[in-house]
Amino acid sequence: MAGRTWIGKVFIATSLDGFIARPDDDIHWLQGQPSADHVAGDRGVPDDLGYAEHMANVDHVVMGRGTYEKVLTFGGWPYPDQHVVVLSTGLAADDDRITVTRSVEETVALLDARGARGVYVDGGATIQAFLRAGLIDTIVLTRVPVLIGQGRPLFGTLDADVHLVHEGTVASGGGYVQSRYRVIPTRSSDG
Ligand SMILES: NC(=O)c1ccc[n+]([C@@H]2O[C@H](COP(=O)([O-])OP(=O)(O)OC[C@H]3O[C@@H](n4cnc5c(N)ncnc54)[C@H](OP(=O)(O)O)[C@@H]3O)[C@@H](O)[C@H]2O)c1
Repeated sequence: MAGRTWIGKVFIATSLDGFIARPDDDIHWLQGQPSADHVAGDRGVPDDLGYAEHMANVDHVVMGRGTYEKVLTFGGWPYPDQHVVVLSTGLAADDDRITVTRSVEETVALLDARGARGVYVDGGATIQAFLRAGLIDTIVLTRVPVLIGQGRPLFGTLDADVHLVHEGTVASGGGYVQSRYRVIPTRSSDG
């Protein structure tokens, strides 16, 4: 990440078969199914699986239009302390809470100009674009114990393999399994 002032962070949950949403963008399955049969979770895993701690170390959120449109249905704005950047080729820039960018390059220029430090990158297509550009440094991936068969994938095509260091895995009592990874920078993403 030489040349960047900021760390690109993914913090996301997928179905066990790797989807972040159903084809119609339904995400209710993320809440899982209570079952007494889950093996007991690890001690000390917070109920929010570390989301609050993650957000405390984020000053910018970059998301795709798909994720932004889902957030608008939540009934409240969940980013009171962060600058939010929405990537979209067509979205009108008429929401004062966000800055719209049209490309990864424009987004990076904005983040650099603002001296961003911690950037939460969200949305499947956006994460894939940032991964391809070597702009993701950490991935916290929570797997929900459900197979949904089809949907919007977290990962997609790459120009080259991305190698990661596994930094740890914990399980919650609800059967959620969360793994933390650090991306090993490639020569090109080193700048
Ligand atoms: N499971 C979870 O934890 C989780 C987390 C986040 C989101 N989600 C869900 O995932 C779904 C959205 O995911 P998604 O895969 O559709 O991805 P997304 O990245 O949220 O949105 C895709 C859109 O972002 C814009 N975009 C992405 N890359 C771009 C680029 N390089 N240049 C310009 N624009 C770009 C495009 O908008 P335009 O078409 O306007 O150009 C594209 O159609 C939603 O249902 C959301 O609820 C789930």
